[in-house]
Amino acid sequence: MIDVQHVTKRYGQVTALDDISFSIPKGEIVAFLGPNGAGKTTTMRILTGFMPPTSGKVNIAGFDCLEEPWEVKKHIGYLPETPPLYLELTVREYLIFVGRIKRLEPEQLQERMRIIVKQTGLSDVQGRVIGHLSRGYRQRVGLAQALLHNPPVLILDEPTTGLDPNQIIEIRDLIKNLAGSHTIILSTHLLAEATAICQKVIIIHQGHIMAIDTPERLGARLRQSEILQLTVKHSDSDLLETLGKIPGVMHVSQGSSPNTYVLETHLGEDIREELTNLVVTRRAGLLELTSQSINLEDVFKILTKPDKPAG
Ligand SMILES: Nc1ncnc2c1ncn2[C@@H]1O[C@H](COP(=O)(O)OP(=O)(O)O)[C@@H](O)[C@H]1O
Ligand SMILES: [Mg+2]
Repeated sequence: MIDVQHVTKRYGQVTALDDISFSIPKGEIVAFLGPNGAGKTTTMRILTGFMPPTSGKVNIAGFDCLEEPWEVKKHIGYLPETPPLYLELTVREYLIFVGRIKRLEPEQLQERMRIIVKQTGLSDVQGRVIGHLSRGYRQRVGLAQALLHNPPVLILDEPTTGLDPNQIIEIRDLIKNLAGSHTIILSTHLLAEATAICQKVIIIHQGHIMAIDTPERLGARLRQSEILQLTVKHSDSDLLETLGKIPGVMHVSQGSSPNTYVLETHLGEDIREELTNLVVTRRAGLLELTSQSINLEDVFKILTKPDKPAG
């Protein structure tokens, strides 16, 4: 349903996306997970035809985003980071306005509004001015405008950011109920959100895709791995690489300081003796070696550290 091939986007000197590729089958709900500045919004703007990529190809529902942007827009509902709401209009007036822009016939618009208002839980506030609604309700109005023309694909940019905990649960439930009948990509910087609502997680960092996996498999890594943190007195340029070659080590990355390394190992493979021997042989000066069980935040940190060796 969504196919992204070798997309790169540069803003002047800044490379926001560096050769990303992924595809999403029909009916799936996928999280685009990454910290601020990772390239989530840029990807979404390209998918919606809001701006062209510097290079690469995007196909949505069988239409090329560059060659047939209008067809693509018909098949997409987009909720931007800041929903394009008119605060002085009532919910009803606003949806009629959006419906006209989307060129729905009057009867069709009435029919869709009836369905959507119910689906997004806006029935009781239809006559109210949007500016007087809570953030949670405004986000529902944002979702309603995205859904109005009944698009098969939904692109939601950080749909729960800025909401309170109750509102977050409501919006997540609403999105979950849309899955199946829609193909959905939502962006988030919260792991818990990605794993709670999505069937697949695409982890993006500094314009690179670091992992594409199911929440279950990310969870399995959580149970199969262990994290060791090593601090040495003298670090040298190839220590990182050497540590990565110790059998049982899955990933090594630089820790919070240049003399600290974070090693992800297979659970049950105790590499501490080998590791300390190596540090002693190299006269690196062992200062500290601590072990902790991995959590999903660690997986995320390891995957998004730029110095992760291949594999
Ligand atoms: N219009 C723009 N002009 C220049 N740089 C931009 C622009 N939009 C985004 N960027 C840069 O591109 C990178 C990715 O940004 P963005 O896609 O907004 O990330 P995210 O949504 O994951 O926070 C960042 O380094 C950001 O500063
Ligand atoms: Mg963003």
